[in-house]
Amino acid sequence: MIPKSVLRDGFEISQIIKGGWHLAGGHGAIDATAAQRDMAAFVEAGITTFDCANIYTGVEQLIGDFRRNYPEHAKRLQIFTKFVPDLGDLPNVDRHYVGSVIDRSLTRLGVEQLDAVQFHWWDYSVPGYVETALELERLRRTGKIGRVSVTNFDTPRLKQIVDAGVPVASHQLQYSLIDTRPELHMVDYCHARDIALLCYGTVAGGFLSERWLGHPEPSCEALANRSLVKYKLILDDFGGWESFQRLLAVLQQIATRHESDIASVATRAILDRRGVTAAIVGATNTAHLPAHTKIATLVLTDEDQTLLTDGWREKAGLLGDVYTLERDRAGRHGRIMKYELTKTG
Ligand SMILES: NC(=O)c1ccc[n+]([C@@H]2O[C@H](COP(=O)([O-])OP(=O)(O)OC[C@H]3O[C@@H](n4cnc5c(N)ncnc54)[C@H](OP(=O)(O)O)[C@@H]3O)[C@@H](O)[C@H]2O)c1
Repeated sequence: MIPKSVLRDGFEISQIIKGGWHLAGGHGAIDATAAQRDMAAFVEAGITTFDCANIYTGVEQLIGDFRRNYPEHAKRLQIFTKFVPDLGDLPNVDRHYVGSVIDRSLTRLGVEQLDAVQFHWWDYSVPGYVETALELERLRRTGKIGRVSVTNFDTPRLKQIVDAGVPVASHQLQYSLIDTRPELHMVDYCHARDIALLCYGTVAGGFLSERWLGHPEPSCEALANRSLVKYKLILDDFGGWESFQRLLAVLQQIATRHESDIASVATRAILDRRGVTAAIVGATNTAHLPAHTKIATLVLTDEDQTLLTDGWREKAGLLGDVYTLERDRAGRHGRIMKYELTKTG
């Protein structure tokens, strides 16, 4: 059974969170009945926290349908959705805009309160992110939102939001063995303020698995989905394919010693890092659920951790604060992002 983690206000979530983006259509067509059956299996395994977003096409509605069709499972569920205004809408985000998106999430999910709303702002040069976070905080005080959280903020902007008086509960960000940018500033900042880190990318879309060990370097065009393209770009900046293969070899060595697998070791290694509260795993079905559940009992030694931080890397890895590379819309990372999804989501 997956253990619980406790947020600052005592709210319990599962240490492994089920990702919702993988049900938004970009990772293959979704059968709504099968997807809800899978959700029930995740809840039964103790993965009771689901991540979703106003911009993940159809996913809030799917989770809402799951709640209605599986009422006993629904009682154990925590739902972390997001509020991500479209890039083009940023100048027009006001009380009415925020309120209508939040009301739509409440309706789709069929709840009276959103357990957490994770806020993102695409472009810091457009004013309004502090005011918008304060508006979410106002909605928290009315009871529509349980907790105000953020996703993909850098440290100075998160600090601005916190300093303005928003009690940020958690930060959803990319943190993995190939992307340790949070360790530059964010881990220390969030640790000092008891802001939980909810990490995606711990298996890099599946790259951190046996499937890619010894595999020749793929071109981006040959990859099956945008998620893999995104992580391939991260891999390139992390140090390239040869460094990555060295990391996979180290992971396999550790996995063999623990009768585990590469993906589980990679996720456990991040869960064990300072300030990390939960890992978000992407799933289109239940194929990897048995592996996810074993992460709970996997205990890495100090020697394992040392092997995972040293010895296989030649370059400095990814540079900069959280999500800074991705925010450059003209850069390789930013060019593959989609910025206008609220209306379709
Ligand atoms: N805030 C944001 O900007 C943001 C960004 C990305 C993701 N997220 C959230 O985080 C969730 C997870 O996304 P992610 O990018 O972090 O995906 P991920 O978990 O890194 O990748 C998921 C994929 O990895 C493979 N996989 C998972 N477990 C495995 C295992 N034990 N062994 C081998 N392969 C395994 C599966 O691929 P196969 O099915 O092909 O085997 C699965 O579809 C998303 O659904 C979303 O909710 C948020």
